[in-house]
Formats: sequence, C-alpha cells, structure tokens
Amino acid sequence: MQKKFEPKVFQLGYIALESADIEKTRHHYAETIGMTQTDVGHDGERYLSIGFDHHNIVLRKADKKALAHLGFQLKPEFDVTDILKDAQARGLTASIKTDSQPGIHKLVEVEAPGHSIFQFYNEIAAPAPGFKKTGVSPLRLGHIAVASSDGEKLMDFYRDFLGFAFTDTIAGIANFLTCNREHHVVNVMNIPDNRVHHIAFQLKGNASHAMACDTLREHGVPVKWGPGRHTAGHNLAGYHYDPDQVLIELYTDMDVYIPELDMCEPRPWHEHFPMRPREWKLTELSAWETDYAFNLAMG
Ligand SMILES: [Fe+2]
Repeated sequence: MQKKFEPKVFQLGYIALESADIEKTRHHYAETIGMTQTDVGHDGERYLSIGFDHHNIVLRKADKKALAHLGFQLKPEFDVTDILKDAQARGLTASIKTDSQPGIHKLVEVEAPGHSIFQFYNEIAAPAPGFKKTGVSPLRLGHIAVASSDGEKLMDFYRDFLGFAFTDTIAGIANFLTCNREHHVVNVMNIPDNRVHHIAFQLKGNASHAMACDTLREHGVPVKWGPGRHTAGHNLAGYHYDPDQVLIELYTDMDVYIPELDMCEPRPWHEHFPMRPREWKLTELSAWETDYAFNLAMG
C-alpha cells in the first residue's frame, strides 16, 4: 500500500552555495538570472530574492564551490522543536538557531546523511522586492539535484524523516522525490560524488524559454542542454552553468503529482497511462530523443 503522504515541509525555500569568487557569482544571480540582493550577512554572505521571500539563494565566500545548506519551509503543523526532537531521536545532530541569518528568526539545523546540512523554519521575512524586469526573471525556486555517495541514506532521510514521496528514478542514479504537487522538489543522484548537480528555477511560461536563452546569450552564457522535454517529470528544461560551474536549470511544464492516486496528472505527451512512479533508462533523458553533445548526467 502507498505510504500516506504527510511531508513535514511544503517547499524548498533557499539554497546556500559557497563560491571562491562571490562577486562574480552574485553578478550572475543578480544580473543574468534577475534576482534582487536583499541583505549582506556578517561574514559578507549575499542574500538574493526572486521577488517575494527574503532569500532564495545565499552566496558565501569559501576556497572553492560547495553546497553549504538547504532551507525547507515547514508545514504549520510542525515547528522547529518537533524537528529537533525527531532528528535527535534518530541520532542526527541538530540544533536550534536564533537570528543566525537575516530574514529568519528561528530555525533548526539538521545534519543529514552525507554531511548534508538542512535548515527548517516556519517563517521567513517577505520584503517582496518585486520580480525584476531584467534578466531571466524566474517565477520561483523549484528543485535541487544533489549527488551523494550516501544516496540511499539521504533518500531514506527524505522519505522516512521528512515524508517525501518517491516519484521516479532514472536507472537508479537520478531519484526524484517530492513534498508537494510538483513531480520533484529534490533529485538525489546516487553516485560516488558529493556535490550539487543542478539547481532549478521555474520560468513564467513555455515562451519564456526563448527569452531566457536570448538573455543568457546577451550575457555571454552558453546554453549547454536543451531547452527540451525530459521524460521523468516531463518538464521543458534548459541548462547553463553559473560562474562556479554549478548547473542551473530553467524549466516549465513540470508534471503535477497526485499523491492520493500515486500518479501524475495525465498529459498528452505522456508515454505511459497512468503515469506512475517508474524507472527510466539513462538513455531516455530527452522525451523528444534529441541528442545533445553535453553530457547532462555528468554535468
Ligand atoms: Fe532538474
């Protein structure tokens, strides 16, 4: 029987990245992607908003690029002390932090398998700086794909601890999980590597892909893969690198997951009816069977 869908969180709020050249990276997210800087932290970290919440991307100076932490917003029925107790009961290191970053008064930080740092919070300030009229100007932060040598344990953390539902796998390598109606909010890549594979922003509509590619071109940023339609999730997606060679996906048209039926809403472009969680082949990344020279799996 399908496990009851009762995730503790409802959305990926922010991604904190470390960068060796924070100014160059900030410029990409602010000018090319079209985000607004809302704050500078005590250690010079930059907080950038898509248009509403205080931050969706945080950039922190470091020796080299790395994923610092992920922020997930808790459902109102859970609070930070619930998560603290549950995490400690599972033997995970967790602590409550007060005013540790601008925009969030209280959060709980949990160290998950593979040294993945998660921050969970109920409230984040919403200064609503507005959506920029320049740059790619996405709608929202959608998902993250993380490569982890502790992939199985990390997936267990998402499924058993956070209550995510499994929606698809590509050859057991890319594993898709969700905490809301989108086909995936995380993609855990079970490979012997530990890094962010890509971060994904949703665009306003399908016509936005052409405008986004033109904007990237104006900023001298080549598109590496797509835009094309994926199989798992069926999102229309195009990928480019940020200045730290972190892949950024711009997407629309993601499959809508119906947890009550453990399937995605039927679409004319689906290959399977009903569209239930399934295994795809590594050679099936592109629904249109377009061959791209860029190896997205290795990206
Ligand atoms: Fe993606």
